Amino acid sequence: MQYKKQEGDIVPSMLARQQKVLDKTEVRKLLQLSGELATEAGEILKRGFNRTHKIDYKGRINPVTEYDLKSERYITSHISKRFPDHAILAEEEGAVAEKSSYRWVIDPLDGTVNYAHGFPMYCVSIAVEFEGDIVAGTVYDPERDELFHAGLKMGAYLNQKRIKVSSEKILQRALLATGFAYNIGTARRTNLGLFARMAKKAQGLRRAGSAAIDLCWLACGRIDGFWEFYLQPWDTAAAKLIVEEAGGQVSRINGASYSIFSPDILASNGHLHKVMRSVLTGRAL
Ligand code: IPD
Ligand code: CA
Ligand code: CA
Repeated sequence: MQYKKQEGDIVPSMLARQQKVLDKTEVRKLLQLSGELATEAGEILKRGFNRTHKIDYKGRINPVTEYDLKSERYITSHISKRFPDHAILAEEEGAVAEKSSYRWVIDPLDGTVNYAHGFPMYCVSIAVEFEGDIVAGTVYDPERDELFHAGLKMGAYLNQKRIKVSSEKILQRALLATGFAYNIGTARRTNLGLFARMAKKAQGLRRAGSAAIDLCWLACGRIDGFWEFYLQPWDTAAAKLIVEEAGGQVSRINGASYSIFSPDILASNGHLHKVMRSVLTGRAL
């Protein structure tokens, strides 16, 4: 006789899925290590800030300083010591492609142009994925001594205090942020047209030069929305979770779901998502 499935039965596929959910104690351990490493790497960056740097170029205007490398090596060496079997995707020295359920996604210095000029807006970003989902995100801003973190379904925090996005609903009263990719000289989509279009609609627009800080500032209500093209996985991995856990919304500019490999991002306090999408796509609400 064939068994008839009852409501509440656990079927094998659900079991497999259930086993893949990381419990909160494990996430807390990952956050503990991420927080320590981001803070310590941030201190390394702060000690090097305002010094003359050795600058190499990865493209026409895309710089890398000796401190990007110092910070990254500090972080990755500690992760590899503690979790030798975890995969790592870091900006400067590429991927440690272990076959693992865990992958660390790291930007050792987000805001390198700022850093190289002595403009005090830069940070360290560390995210951890488990089975493809970002479960822990940490961003440390050494100039303001601000540590943002979030665990999946565990809320978002700034220096251990719970944060949430703003409640602004009117675009004309909203402060927004965006950025311009290093390929601005050659890319088909440069963001310049959208910058002009949005500047006429919002209360104000900022381009501070660190996408991870932009997103964290959205998470704690200092700005109300953000968009950008051609960001890399390490720019957004940690801060995407921080925004979502703070109650914000993250998608592609056309409203499709966002992955850290997507070529564009729209993030907002949720209330402004539709109207920002409409302005950016040129389509009516
Ligand atoms: C850059 C910053 C900047 C954004 C660029 C990014 P980097 O990262 O996040 O705000 O506009 O697109 O590449 O190179 O300083 O790590
Ligand atoms: Ca970056
Ligand atoms: Ca970087």
